[in-house]
Amino acid sequence: MTDHDVRTLADDELRASQELFRATLHAKPITDDEWPQVRAGLQSARSLGVHEVDSGALIGTARSFDSALTLPGGGEVPLGAVTSVGVRADRTRRGVLTELMHAQLREFADRGVVAAGLHASESAIYGRFGYGVATWARAYTVDVRRARMRQDAPVGGRVDIEDFDRAFDQWAAAYPAMTTRPGMLARPAEWWSQLRRTAEKQDGPVTAVTHRGTGGVDGFAVYSVDRPRPDSATLNLLELQAGGPEAFAGLWRYLLSVDLIHEVTANGRPVDEPVELLLTDARAVSTTAQFDDLWLRLVDVPAALAARTYTGEDVVLEVTDPVLPGNSGRYRVGPDGVARTDEPARLQLSVDALAMLHLGAWRPSQLVDTGRVRATTAGVAERADRLFTTPAPPWCGTFF
Ligand SMILES: CC(C)(COP(=O)(O)OP(=O)(O)OC[C@H]1O[C@@H](n2cnc3c(N)ncnc32)[C@H](O)[C@@H]1OP(=O)(O)O)[C@@H](O)C(=O)NCCC(=O)NCCS
Repeated sequence: MTDHDVRTLADDELRASQELFRATLHAKPITDDEWPQVRAGLQSARSLGVHEVDSGALIGTARSFDSALTLPGGGEVPLGAVTSVGVRADRTRRGVLTELMHAQLREFADRGVVAAGLHASESAIYGRFGYGVATWARAYTVDVRRARMRQDAPVGGRVDIEDFDRAFDQWAAAYPAMTTRPGMLARPAEWWSQLRRTAEKQDGPVTAVTHRGTGGVDGFAVYSVDRPRPDSATLNLLELQAGGPEAFAGLWRYLLSVDLIHEVTANGRPVDEPVELLLTDARAVSTTAQFDDLWLRLVDVPAALAARTYTGEDVVLEVTDPVLPGNSGRYRVGPDGVARTDEPARLQLSVDALAMLHLGAWRPSQLVDTGRVRATTAGVAERADRLFTTPAPPWCGTFF
């Protein structure tokens, strides 16, 4: 096999790596006009490349941006948000991605990054590297002609259509207070410039709206409109964040009031988002898909375990991590803290299964019942269910 060189790419190599990635997704090359905007979405020193030693050719790439992950109980840990993963089509299935993933995880560990997250193009790829599905999302449509807001839906604040430039700075400042749900991510400046690119790439016109309550900006939404016929337009919600019930109801009241729209489509939303409860007729909302959202990888297992809260009684976990073996071992986990232990294990699980439990997307008993986790004593799965339980399903809500 040809020797490979895996290393962090310099700034002047980023365009080549993004071109390679785009080609793996069957997308057109980046034009000179587009490049400055694409570059604005990239952080320096966060792209890895695999070069063939003999030809010098770049054949694989993966990058990340620095973020933070909200955990149950409200704590945050540094997260590497992994994206732009691709291997040149004539060099796949010979271990290039494996080299990239291992190098990236080691690099995260060296920098003190506690967790890594990604959105997977295909679900068969990332489990082997210790990633597990840690949040779910749903897509739904709202039949606008059938949708009437209930009289008792919260009222307060106001919605304004905004100029994008003005809106983004205000949203970036207000957004951290909205990341209350486990699974939500901090958004660096580079992420916001990518949202702008997404907006500019839409076929239809794009509108930005801000909700302001008594304390200032507490919600926002971005949508595009497709209007194939004069009397039939679809409003596609690209982004909606609400810091409280009035902002959520206020944004939906606005969206359902826009003239000429017969349908609103929303994608990547929380599975329990209560839009139905705002309406007199809950069947105006149809769930069209539910899908895996954030794939999580715990890079520093003890730090990740210690950063969330627990309820009920302690459980001793035995974790196996073949890629980062320092994580392997037994941990006593409970409301009073997390510590390494020599006590007998009550639940045995791989690091990807632990990621599936960590934010509350799955109950430990579900993983025991399906053979993903092994319980060594009776009743421990139910004890672990109480330990890891979260008040609401986790949700990421930031696409990258
Ligand atoms: C997905 C991709 C990055 C895999 O790269 P690769 O270099 O072929 O992966 P590797 O050779 O390191 O594969 C490692 C293992 O994963 C498996 N695997 C890799 N890609 C897979 C896929 N798409 N579906 C199922 N299994 C896959 C391999 O068979 C191999 O299994 P093994 O260890 O049992 O032999 C590459 O095919 C690609 O660029 N695809 C198009 C772009 C894309 O989907 N990128 C991911 C964006 S999230």
